[in-house]
Amino acid sequence: MPAVALPVLGAEDVLAGLRALRTRQPVKFSAFYSSQLGGIVTDPALMVIPFDDHMVHRGHGIFDTAGLVNGRIYDLEAHLDRFLGSAERSRLKLFGSREQMRDIIIKTAAASQLRDGAIRYWLSSGPGSLELSPAAGAQPGFFVMIFGGLSYPERWYTGGLRVMTTTYPIKPPLYAITKATNYLPNVLMQMEAKEAGFDNGVFIDEDGFVGESSNMNVAFVTRDGVFRHPKFERVLPGCTSLRLLELARGLIGTAITGVEVSDVAVADARAAREMLLLGSSVKVAPIVQWDREPIADGKPGPVASALLNLLEEDMRAGDRLIDVPY
Ligand SMILES: Cc1ncc(COP(=O)(O)O)c(C=O)c1O
Repeated sequence: MPAVALPVLGAEDVLAGLRALRTRQPVKFSAFYSSQLGGIVTDPALMVIPFDDHMVHRGHGIFDTAGLVNGRIYDLEAHLDRFLGSAERSRLKLFGSREQMRDIIIKTAAASQLRDGAIRYWLSSGPGSLELSPAAGAQPGFFVMIFGGLSYPERWYTGGLRVMTTTYPIKPPLYAITKATNYLPNVLMQMEAKEAGFDNGVFIDEDGFVGESSNMNVAFVTRDGVFRHPKFERVLPGCTSLRLLELARGLIGTAITGVEVSDVAVADARAAREMLLLGSSVKVAPIVQWDREPIADGKPGPVASALLNLLEEDMRAGDRLIDVPY
């Protein structure tokens, strides 16, 4: 192997290097707030965090993602509730109050000029050492990214998805309900599923109950028409799931017969009339095949589309929207 030239770089070289990186691999990041920089940047090359931040080298950080829909932020309070819960369980100091963080999120969205996409924000325990415990005197870091959001193939909605049971173990309860930056099991599950030709994976717990997918919850419609969701003990309490469990009550007597949150045994789940993926990015998508076996007749069912309509209406004109002051 030929020797590699290793220059010692100055500030301008670093900036040129960061810009070259973004040219090689363009990203759709519209605005980024960093408490460490003390403001907002819109040039993706400047959306950086120090290597010694505890979130980077030890995964001691949390995050959350809310949707930006038609110039409005959807259900931010639910996402902030979960963010604060994750911070407490991770023993992270907050950066300012909930109100200050909400204000920064809204102002960063305004600076982005983006009207449809996603807002992801992080709390880190800050830089200052490479130790296992946070550095002495470390200041918590707060970061907000406004970006194009995750998108999925149209065929997921029209034809449905195919999933597999992952071979990776589910997270223990504390880590499952905390939205920390430790997504290794989720990443490995999704990679495994894609490599095997599936759209995604599903975690099953040690007692044979259904967990969740990589970055989405799963739910079912039972043979007798109940919209059934696993308990929020081994899975992340999805803001979409929690909202849909409320909205679905409006379908009782028509599309469904009831709503239930309970442990879902794999055998019952496989016999479901419908299987669904739920999440802020995917919204509601039907799963039509699991471990190569069809769910019911292997076609998307009516409850998936009824729930998707309810959610889209709530995102368009419900009472959980915040106008972005562009
Ligand atoms: C592991 C995991 N489960 C479920 C969800 C769905 O949560 P939400 O509906 O809040 O997007 C997410 C996404 O944040 C997730 O990362």
